[in-house]
Amino acid sequence: MSKIRAARRVSSFADSVFGEMTRLARLHNAVNLSQGFPDFEAPQAIKDAACAAIQAEQNQYAPPYGTLALRDAIAKDFERRFGVPVIADEQVTVCCGSTEAMMAVMLSCLDPGDEVIVFEPFYENYGPDAILAGATPRYVRLREPAWSFDPDELKKAFNNRTRAIVINSPNNPTGKVFSREELQTIADLCQRWDVLAIADEIYDRVVYAGYSHVPMASLPGMAERTVTTNGLSKTYSVTGWRIGWAISPPALTGGIRKIHDFLTVAAPTPFHDAGVAALSLPAHFYTQLAADYQSKRDLMLDILQRHGFTSYPPSGAYYVMTDVSHFGFASDSEFAQYLVKEVGVATVPGSSFYIDPASAPQTLRFCFSKRDETLHEADKRLAKLSINAGDRA
Ligand SMILES: Cc1ncc(COP(=O)(O)O)c(C=O)c1O
Repeated sequence: MSKIRAARRVSSFADSVFGEMTRLARLHNAVNLSQGFPDFEAPQAIKDAACAAIQAEQNQYAPPYGTLALRDAIAKDFERRFGVPVIADEQVTVCCGSTEAMMAVMLSCLDPGDEVIVFEPFYENYGPDAILAGATPRYVRLREPAWSFDPDELKKAFNNRTRAIVINSPNNPTGKVFSREELQTIADLCQRWDVLAIADEIYDRVVYAGYSHVPMASLPGMAERTVTTNGLSKTYSVTGWRIGWAISPPALTGGIRKIHDFLTVAAPTPFHDAGVAALSLPAHFYTQLAADYQSKRDLMLDILQRHGFTSYPPSGAYYVMTDVSHFGFASDSEFAQYLVKEVGVATVPGSSFYIDPASAPQTLRFCFSKRDETLHEADKRLAKLSINAGDRA
C-alpha cells in the first residue's frame, strides 16, 4: 500500500452532511435551511468596531490567548450573568471559534484510552474531536419528544475510564434546554466519578419563554471541573469571524493554551476589539434577539405544521427537529434528498446526528436563523410537497 494516503485516524470520519446539503442547495437553487448560520445582518456597532480595528492597523498576530480587553469582557460577562467568578488571566483562552476551543480542550484534557460521554443526537464535531484526542466517545441517547435522557442509562455509561462528558445546552440539533435537575444528575455523576464536564454553551442567549439557561459551571462544586466553551458566532450572527473561547479551571488553562498556540497561534486580530464591542451591547440587544428568534421559531413551527410535519418544539437554539416517518420514504436521508432536489428546501437528515443512523428515529432538522422572507419562501416551496404527494399517489 502506498504511504501517500490519509492517516488511519481520519478514515472513520464521515464527510460533513451540512457541506453536502449546502452544495445541493446551491445546485438546485433551494432555500437553505440546513446549515446553522443566519442570513441576516450582524449588529452595525460590532461591524464598525471590526472595520475600525483594521483601519487602526490591528492586523498582525493577536496575543495568543486573546487580548486582555476581550478576555476581561468574557470573564466579567460570565461572572455578572451567572455569579461564577472568572479570572481572565488564569481561565480564559480565546480561540478560532468555539470549534477550535472544543478541540483544544479535548486534546489537552484527554489521554489515549479515556472515554468521553456524548449525548446523541449530537453536534457533529464531538465524536471526531474525542477520536483525534485518542479517546473513545460513548453515546447516551436523548429521546424525543422531550429529548431527555434515562438517568440509569447515563449512570451505566460512567466507569473508571470516563474522563469527560460533553453537555450542549441549549442543544443542537434538538433545541433542548437542559433543566437544572437534569444538569444536577450529570453533575452528581461527574463528582462521583471525578469526571470533567465540557459545556458547549454557544446558544446560551437563544432561549425561549418559560425556559432559562443554567450553566454547568454554576452548579455547586462544578466550577472546578467544568470547561465552558462559547463564542461570538451565534449570539452576534458572525459565524465567519471565528472568535470563540474556553473558560477553564486554572489548572487546565495552560494545556488548553499550549494546544491552541500550536493549532492556530491566535484568533483573527481585528475581531478581538469587535468582540469587546459585542460583549458591551446593552441588555435590550439580548432581549430583542431572544424575542426575534421566538417569533421565527413560531413561524417555522406554523409552516411545518401546515405542511404535515410533526415537530418537537425547541426550547432554545435555532433548530427544530421534525418527525418525518409518515411521509413514506425509506429513510430521512432519502426524504432530505427529495426535499432539496424536488421541493427546493435544504434540511439536514436527523439520522446524521447519530452514531448508528439506522437506529435513529426518522427526523429532519430545520434551521430557522433566517430572514422572515427566507422562511416564507420555504413555506411556498413546501406547498409543492402535497401537490407532489398527489402525483406520487
Ligand atoms: C453546538 C455547536 N457548537 C459549536 C458550534 C460552532 O461554533 P463556532 O462558530 O464558535 O465554532 C456550532 C455551530 O453550528 C454548534 O451548533
